[in-house]
Amino acid sequence: MKSELNLDKMPAHVAIIMDGNGRWASTKGKNRLFGHKNGVQAVRAVVEESVRLGIKHLTLYAFSSENWQRPKEEIGTLMRLLVQSLRSEFEKLLNNNIKLQAVGEIDELPQSVQDELFHVINKTANNSNMTLTLALSYGARQEITSAVKKLGELVKNNLISPDDIDDSTINKHLCTHKLPDVDLLIRTSGEQRVSNFLLWQIAYAELYFTNVFWPDFREQNLQAALLEYQKRERRFGKTSAQINA
Ligand code: FPP
Repeated sequence: MKSELNLDKMPAHVAIIMDGNGRWASTKGKNRLFGHKNGVQAVRAVVEESVRLGIKHLTLYAFSSENWQRPKEEIGTLMRLLVQSLRSEFEKLLNNNIKLQAVGEIDELPQSVQDELFHVINKTANNSNMTLTLALSYGARQEITSAVKKLGELVKNNLISPDDIDDSTINKHLCTHKLPDVDLLIRTSGEQRVSNFLLWQIAYAELYFTNVFWPDFREQNLQAALLEYQKRERRFGKTSAQINA
Protein backbone atom coordinates (compact mmCIF):
# COMPACT_ATOMS: atom_id res chain seq x y z
CA MET A 1 0.00 0.00 0.00
CA LYS A 2 1.31 3.45 -0.89
CA SER A 3 1.79 5.54 2.26
CA GLU A 4 0.09 8.89 2.45
CA LEU A 5 1.44 12.16 3.72
CA ASN A 6 0.08 13.16 7.11
CA LEU A 7 -0.86 16.85 6.83
CA ASP A 8 -0.78 17.14 10.64
CA LYS A 9 2.86 16.09 10.77
CA MET A 10 4.37 18.52 8.30
CA PRO A 11 7.78 19.99 9.15
CA ALA A 12 7.45 23.65 10.13
CA HIS A 13 10.67 24.56 8.32
CA VAL A 14 12.04 22.92 5.17
CA ALA A 15 15.39 24.10 3.79
CA ILE A 16 16.70 23.07 0.38
CA ILE A 17 20.16 23.02 -1.17
CA MET A 18 19.18 23.24 -4.84
CA ASP A 19 22.08 21.42 -6.50
CA GLY A 20 22.82 19.92 -9.90
CA ASN A 21 21.75 22.61 -12.38
CA GLY A 22 25.08 22.45 -14.21
CA ARG A 23 25.23 18.65 -14.38
CA TRP A 24 21.59 18.46 -15.50
CA ALA A 25 22.41 20.81 -18.38
CA SER A 26 25.51 18.88 -19.39
CA THR A 27 23.50 15.61 -19.62
CA LYS A 28 21.49 17.47 -22.27
CA GLY A 29 24.56 18.83 -24.07
CA LYS A 30 23.72 22.38 -22.94
CA ASN A 31 25.64 24.97 -20.95
CA ARG A 32 25.31 25.60 -17.21
CA LEU A 33 23.19 28.70 -17.75
CA PHE A 34 20.50 26.54 -19.36
CA GLY A 35 20.48 24.47 -16.16
CA HIS A 36 19.92 27.52 -13.95
CA LYS A 37 17.08 28.75 -16.16
CA ASN A 38 15.35 25.38 -15.82
CA GLY A 39 16.04 25.44 -12.08
CA VAL A 40 13.54 28.28 -11.80
CA GLN A 41 10.69 25.91 -12.86
CA ALA A 42 11.61 23.63 -9.96
CA VAL A 43 11.58 26.59 -7.56
CA ARG A 44 8.07 27.49 -8.74
CA ALA A 45 6.79 23.90 -8.35
CA VAL A 46 8.28 23.47 -4.88
CA VAL A 47 7.01 26.81 -3.58
CA GLU A 48 3.46 26.07 -4.79
CA GLU A 49 3.48 22.54 -3.38
CA SER A 50 4.87 23.71 -0.03
CA VAL A 51 2.04 26.22 0.35
CA ARG A 52 -0.50 23.60 -0.66
CA LEU A 53 0.82 21.19 1.98
CA GLY A 54 0.78 23.81 4.73
CA ILE A 55 4.54 24.15 5.26
CA LYS A 56 5.05 27.43 7.12
CA HIS A 57 8.71 28.11 6.28
CA LEU A 58 10.65 27.25 3.15
CA THR A 59 14.27 28.38 2.82
CA LEU A 60 16.15 28.03 -0.47
CA TYR A 61 19.93 28.23 -0.89
CA ALA A 62 19.96 30.34 -4.06
CA PHE A 63 23.49 31.78 -3.95
CA SER A 64 26.25 31.02 -1.44
CA SER A 65 29.06 33.30 -0.28
CA GLU A 66 31.38 30.90 -2.10
CA ASN A 67 29.40 31.16 -5.37
CA TRP A 68 31.03 34.59 -5.97
CA GLN A 69 34.08 32.60 -7.13
CA ARG A 70 32.18 31.28 -10.18
CA PRO A 71 32.79 32.72 -13.68
CA LYS A 72 31.48 36.29 -14.07
CA GLU A 73 29.08 35.27 -16.84
CA GLU A 74 27.45 32.62 -14.64
CA ILE A 75 27.10 35.05 -11.72
CA GLY A 76 25.54 37.59 -14.11
CA THR A 77 23.01 35.01 -15.36
CA LEU A 78 22.06 33.97 -11.83
CA MET A 79 21.54 37.61 -10.80
CA ARG A 80 19.45 38.34 -13.91
CA LEU A 81 17.38 35.20 -13.30
CA LEU A 82 16.73 36.36 -9.76
CA VAL A 83 15.49 39.77 -10.88
CA GLN A 84 13.32 38.19 -13.62
CA SER A 85 11.88 35.59 -11.24
CA LEU A 86 11.12 38.16 -8.57
CA ARG A 87 9.24 40.18 -11.20
CA SER A 88 7.40 37.26 -12.80
CA GLU A 89 6.47 35.49 -9.54
CA PHE A 90 5.50 38.59 -7.57
CA GLU A 91 1.75 38.26 -8.31
CA LYS A 92 1.83 34.59 -7.38
CA LEU A 93 3.43 35.38 -4.03
CA LEU A 94 0.68 37.91 -3.37
CA ASN A 95 -2.13 35.59 -4.48
CA ASN A 96 -0.81 32.74 -2.33
CA ASN A 97 -0.30 35.01 0.71
CA ILE A 98 3.46 34.21 0.79
CA LYS A 99 5.90 36.45 2.63
CA LEU A 100 9.33 36.80 0.99
CA GLN A 101 12.48 37.26 3.10
CA ALA A 102 16.17 37.17 2.31
CA VAL A 103 19.14 36.18 4.45
CA GLY A 104 22.84 36.62 3.72
CA GLU A 105 25.10 39.52 2.85
CA ILE A 106 22.40 41.24 0.80
CA ASP A 107 24.39 44.47 0.40
CA GLU A 108 26.94 42.47 -1.67
CA LEU A 109 24.29 41.83 -4.36
CA PRO A 110 24.01 44.06 -7.45
CA GLN A 111 21.78 47.10 -6.87
CA SER A 112 19.18 45.81 -9.38
CA VAL A 113 18.74 42.61 -7.33
CA GLN A 114 18.56 44.53 -4.05
CA ASP A 115 15.94 46.93 -5.44
CA GLU A 116 13.70 44.15 -6.76
CA LEU A 117 14.20 42.07 -3.63
CA PHE A 118 13.26 44.87 -1.23
CA HIS A 119 10.30 45.82 -3.40
CA VAL A 120 8.86 42.28 -3.12
CA ILE A 121 9.88 41.90 0.55
CA ASN A 122 8.04 45.14 1.45
CA LYS A 123 4.94 44.33 -0.58
CA THR A 124 4.61 40.82 0.91
CA ALA A 125 5.60 41.72 4.49
CA ASN A 126 2.10 41.18 5.91
CA ASN A 127 1.46 37.85 4.19
CA SER A 128 1.03 34.87 6.48
CA ASN A 129 0.47 31.56 4.64
CA MET A 130 4.15 30.75 4.29
CA THR A 131 7.49 32.51 4.64
CA LEU A 132 9.77 31.94 1.67
CA THR A 133 13.35 32.82 2.56
CA LEU A 134 16.02 33.14 -0.11
CA ALA A 135 19.57 32.63 1.12
CA LEU A 136 21.61 34.98 -1.07
CA SER A 137 25.32 35.62 -0.74
CA TYR A 138 24.82 33.46 2.34
CA GLY A 139 27.40 31.49 4.33
CA ALA A 140 26.67 30.01 7.75
CA ARG A 141 30.22 30.50 9.06
CA GLN A 142 30.09 34.16 8.05
CA GLU A 143 26.68 34.46 9.75
CA ILE A 144 28.00 32.91 12.98
CA THR A 145 31.19 34.99 12.88
CA SER A 146 29.13 38.15 12.52
CA ALA A 147 26.94 37.14 15.50
CA VAL A 148 30.05 36.46 17.63
CA LYS A 149 31.44 39.91 16.71
CA LYS A 150 28.18 41.63 17.74
CA LEU A 151 28.15 39.75 21.05
CA GLY A 152 31.83 40.64 21.59
CA GLU A 153 30.94 44.33 21.15
CA LEU A 154 28.10 44.03 23.67
CA VAL A 155 30.43 42.41 26.21
CA LYS A 156 33.17 44.99 25.56
CA ASN A 157 30.69 47.82 26.17
CA ASN A 158 29.46 46.14 29.38
CA LEU A 159 25.95 45.80 27.95
CA ILE A 160 25.93 42.05 28.66
CA SER A 161 28.16 39.70 30.63
CA PRO A 162 29.65 36.55 29.02
CA ASP A 163 27.42 34.58 31.41
CA ASP A 164 24.35 36.03 29.70
CA ILE A 165 25.29 34.29 26.42
CA ASP A 166 23.26 31.18 25.70
CA ASP A 167 21.65 29.49 22.67
CA SER A 168 18.90 32.07 22.45
CA THR A 169 21.27 35.08 22.67
CA ILE A 170 23.35 33.65 19.83
CA ASN A 171 20.23 32.85 17.81
CA LYS A 172 18.99 36.41 18.24
CA HIS A 173 22.11 37.73 16.49
CA LEU A 174 21.86 35.45 13.45
CA CYS A 175 20.29 36.81 10.27
CA THR A 176 17.80 33.92 10.45
CA HIS A 177 16.63 34.89 13.95
CA LYS A 178 13.00 35.17 12.80
CA LEU A 179 12.95 31.55 11.57
CA PRO A 180 12.40 28.40 13.61
CA ASP A 181 15.08 25.67 13.53
CA VAL A 182 15.15 23.62 10.33
CA ASP A 183 13.16 20.36 10.59
CA LEU A 184 14.05 18.92 7.19
CA LEU A 185 17.07 19.70 5.03
CA ILE A 186 16.91 18.45 1.44
CA ARG A 187 19.87 18.36 -0.97
CA THR A 188 19.45 17.35 -4.58
CA SER A 189 21.92 15.94 -7.13
CA GLY A 190 23.46 13.11 -5.08
CA GLU A 191 25.94 15.24 -3.11
CA GLN A 192 25.83 14.50 0.60
CA ARG A 193 27.17 17.57 2.36
CA VAL A 194 25.79 20.78 3.87
CA SER A 195 28.12 23.29 2.18
CA ASN A 196 28.03 26.09 4.77
CA PHE A 197 24.22 26.25 4.84
CA LEU A 198 22.36 27.04 8.09
CA LEU A 199 24.93 25.22 10.25
CA TRP A 200 23.46 26.48 13.53
CA GLN A 201 19.83 25.99 12.49
CA ILE A 202 20.18 22.36 11.28
CA ALA A 203 21.43 21.05 14.66
CA TYR A 204 18.46 18.65 14.87
CA ALA A 205 17.26 18.68 11.27
CA GLU A 206 16.52 15.45 9.44
CA LEU A 207 18.76 15.24 6.37
CA TYR A 208 17.40 13.97 3.06
CA PHE A 209 19.55 13.42 -0.01
CA THR A 210 18.23 12.57 -3.45
CA ASN A 211 20.02 11.86 -6.73
CA VAL A 212 17.49 13.98 -8.67
CA PHE A 213 19.10 17.06 -10.24
CA TRP A 214 17.43 20.30 -9.14
CA PRO A 215 15.84 21.21 -12.54
CA ASP A 216 13.99 17.85 -12.45
CA PHE A 217 12.77 18.25 -8.85
CA ARG A 218 8.98 18.49 -8.74
CA GLU A 219 5.97 18.07 -6.41
CA GLN A 220 6.33 14.27 -6.22
CA ASN A 221 10.01 14.59 -5.21
CA LEU A 222 9.11 16.97 -2.39
CA GLN A 223 6.37 14.59 -1.30
CA ALA A 224 8.87 11.69 -1.25
CA ALA A 225 11.18 13.72 1.01
CA LEU A 226 8.29 14.60 3.32
CA LEU A 227 7.14 10.97 3.51
CA GLU A 228 10.64 9.90 4.49
CA TYR A 229 10.73 12.71 7.09
CA GLN A 230 7.43 11.52 8.59
CA LYS A 231 8.85 8.00 9.00
CA ARG A 232 11.82 9.20 11.02
CA GLU A 233 11.78 9.23 14.81
CA ARG A 234 13.06 12.57 16.04
CA ARG A 235 14.50 11.99 19.48
CA PHE A 236 16.37 15.24 20.19
CA GLY A 237 18.81 13.32 22.40
CA LYS A 238 16.08 11.44 24.32
CA THR A 239 15.34 7.70 24.16
CA SER A 240 12.73 6.17 21.94
CA ALA A 241 10.71 5.14 25.04
CA GLN A 242 10.67 8.72 26.31
CA ILE A 243 9.50 10.03 22.96
CA ASN A 244 6.68 7.47 22.74
CA ALA A 245 5.53 7.88 26.37
C1 FPP B 1 23.39 24.76 -7.85
O1 FPP B 1 23.62 24.04 -9.05
C2 FPP B 1 22.49 25.89 -8.05
C3 FPP B 1 22.80 27.21 -7.81
C4 FPP B 1 24.12 27.66 -7.35
C5 FPP B 1 21.84 28.29 -8.04
C6 FPP B 1 20.40 28.00 -7.77
C7 FPP B 1 19.58 28.95 -8.58
C8 FPP B 1 18.41 28.69 -9.19
C9 FPP B 1 17.70 27.42 -9.05
C10 FPP B 1 17.76 29.70 -10.09
C11 FPP B 1 17.23 30.96 -9.51
C12 FPP B 1 16.72 30.91 -8.11
C13 FPP B 1 15.57 31.47 -7.66
C14 FPP B 1 15.30 31.44 -6.19
C15 FPP B 1 14.55 32.08 -8.53
P1 FPP B 1 25.12 23.98 -9.57
O2 FPP B 1 25.34 25.11 -10.49
O3 FPP B 1 26.07 23.93 -8.41
O4 FPP B 1 25.11 22.60 -10.33
P2 FPP B 1 26.34 21.59 -10.50
O5 FPP B 1 26.73 21.16 -9.11
O6 FPP B 1 25.75 20.48 -11.30
O7 FPP B 1 27.42 22.31 -11.22
